[in-house]
Amino acid sequence: MGPPGVGKGTQATILKSHLKVPHLSTGEILRKEIALNSDIGKVSKEYIDNGLFVPDNILIEIIENYLKSSVCQDGYILDGYPRNVQQVKDLHLLLSRLNQSIDVAISLTAEKKELIKRLIKRSKDSGRSDDAIEIISKRQDVYWKQTAPIIKYYRENKILKEVNGLGTIEDITKRIIKVIK
Ligand code: AP5
Ligand code: MG
Repeated sequence: MGPPGVGKGTQATILKSHLKVPHLSTGEILRKEIALNSDIGKVSKEYIDNGLFVPDNILIEIIENYLKSSVCQDGYILDGYPRNVQQVKDLHLLLSRLNQSIDVAISLTAEKKELIKRLIKRSKDSGRSDDAIEIISKRQDVYWKQTAPIIKYYRENKILKEVNGLGTIEDITKRIIKVIK
């Protein structure tokens, strides 16, 4: 977990090789659906282009299919899910049904100024519709309103690890590996 631009995707991509488990980025899945112009893609585009969250029922369907797949049977990294209180509940129910549990919830942190700087830099060649300047800012607000409150839930469940997301990519990876050992 962590605000847009904090490095969730960057770190998950490195960690998946280190931990030898797959990585699911809900943002990437939705962007692929948009590129395919599928039904999910058509609905999602409206929300993503406006910096809003895609409806929870679409996300839980994607997550359920993924967690049931054979590639996930030895573990996985979720990047960008859950993202609000309802998704925490949906995931909790799904994991109970599948007899799975979360080992660790990592919250990456960084100040807003740095995040905006990273996303503006990325916007020059990302091709992401939500990297438009007004949407970058909106995504930060949505994170603080809807995602930040769920961090408390994982803290209370004693599986939360908070990691400083400022510094070099390599240093942040080392910090994460240290807390998940
Ligand atoms: P998603 O794709 O998850 O985007 P996001 O959370 O807004 O964040 P980013 O992917 O932009 O940032 P990141 O933290 O992964 O950072 P990154 O590693 O890329 O979601 C997009 C949209 O999809 C949502 O707004 C929503 O509409 C929808 N969606 C997705 N999941 C959903 C859900 N569960 N429910 C509902 N809707 C959902 O790094 C950012 C940049 O910084 C890169 O250029 C990177 O190279 C650079 N960088 C990384 N680390 C460093 C560092 N240490 N120093 C300097 N630069 C760095
Ligand atoms: Mg990402």
